[in-house]
Amino acid sequence: MHNSTGLSSGLMVEAPSCSFASDNTAGVAPEVLDAMAGANTGPAIAYGADPHTGAFDAHIERLFGSGAKGLLTWGGTGANIVGLSTLVRPYQAIVCAESAHINVDECGGVERFTGSKLIDVPTIDGKLTPAHIEAQLHVLGDVHHPQPGAISISQLTEYGTLYSVAEIQALSDCAKAAGLRVHMDGARIANAAVALDVPVRAFTADAGVDVLSFGGTKNGLAYGEAVVFFDQSLVSEAEFNRKQAGQLPSKMRFLAAQFNALLDDDLWLRNGAQANRAAQRLVAGAEKIPGVEITQRPAANAVFARLPRPVVRQLQAWSYFYVWAPGQPDANGEIFDEVRWLPSFMTTDLDVDLFLAGVAEAMAAH
Ligand SMILES: Cc1ncc(COP(=O)(O)O)c(C=O)c1O
Repeated sequence: MHNSTGLSSGLMVEAPSCSFASDNTAGVAPEVLDAMAGANTGPAIAYGADPHTGAFDAHIERLFGSGAKGLLTWGGTGANIVGLSTLVRPYQAIVCAESAHINVDECGGVERFTGSKLIDVPTIDGKLTPAHIEAQLHVLGDVHHPQPGAISISQLTEYGTLYSVAEIQALSDCAKAAGLRVHMDGARIANAAVALDVPVRAFTADAGVDVLSFGGTKNGLAYGEAVVFFDQSLVSEAEFNRKQAGQLPSKMRFLAAQFNALLDDDLWLRNGAQANRAAQRLVAGAEKIPGVEITQRPAANAVFARLPRPVVRQLQAWSYFYVWAPGQPDANGEIFDEVRWLPSFMTTDLDVDLFLAGVAEAMAAH
């Protein structure tokens, strides 16, 4: 069999039609495309003074309470930059997990735009704890040290783990007691909301979060995220930061219309649920395949597994996915890599079953 890259994998089973490399390999939800077309009628004042953006504003207040304000941005890195540059000054620092997207996958964008140092702490599972924060506080007031000014947590984390409401509240309490602000990178907030099965407000605004990057792209948008402020006093500065960072879309209505399609009748939660279900099916099947070690069970839609490197290479040539952590040779000289499989809102049961059949075939032949 040949996959779309033209590489020969040698596997007989048909490759799935979707990719497990990431949830942003999926296309656009049909409802979102329809909404963009629907917004394409006549002129509309640019930069957000249009009815679609007005409807989006109403959705944000419905979800998070009156006073919450969402600023639409082109992407997730931009949302994180706008949010964090509004929370900290250049002499301050942002405490985050070492694995945080802002630390390893945004090309230093947050450091550049905030001028602030990221204090990236090693974690076992991608989650910060109050102890991580407390360990950074002894420098407060000392002019020689960057001053911790905010924490940033990801919900879901990059390692597929989920903070409970109580864990977020405990982090916020700890941060606030020391005068630090709280930022949440919610690129996968829909998956998290479904997994927690509570209103999104319960683990954001009501749990002490000040600013949320509200993900859209991984949940069915063509592009776009929102940065949501729960403290109104931050919004006017954030508007300037968004413009300077190149994150103020001119034809805003098309971005707002996309978000509205997700939020109008909770499509965002149905999409999140579909991705989470696919991950559960995937892990249930994968753990039955001899030799596959599940290293991280899905709290929502991310599965992590360890496989022999030649099997990883063969499967990648068949249906590409990423190595999360390259392994080292064991006592027998064999190398096992940890990989990440990330279904999306478009992943079907058939896709999962085909993928599992490929993994089983490759493992059996190894
Ligand atoms: C945790 C997390 N945050 C933010 C982003 C946003 O990235 P982008 O700027 O590519 O939209 C991603 C995308 O992969 C992500 O996984």
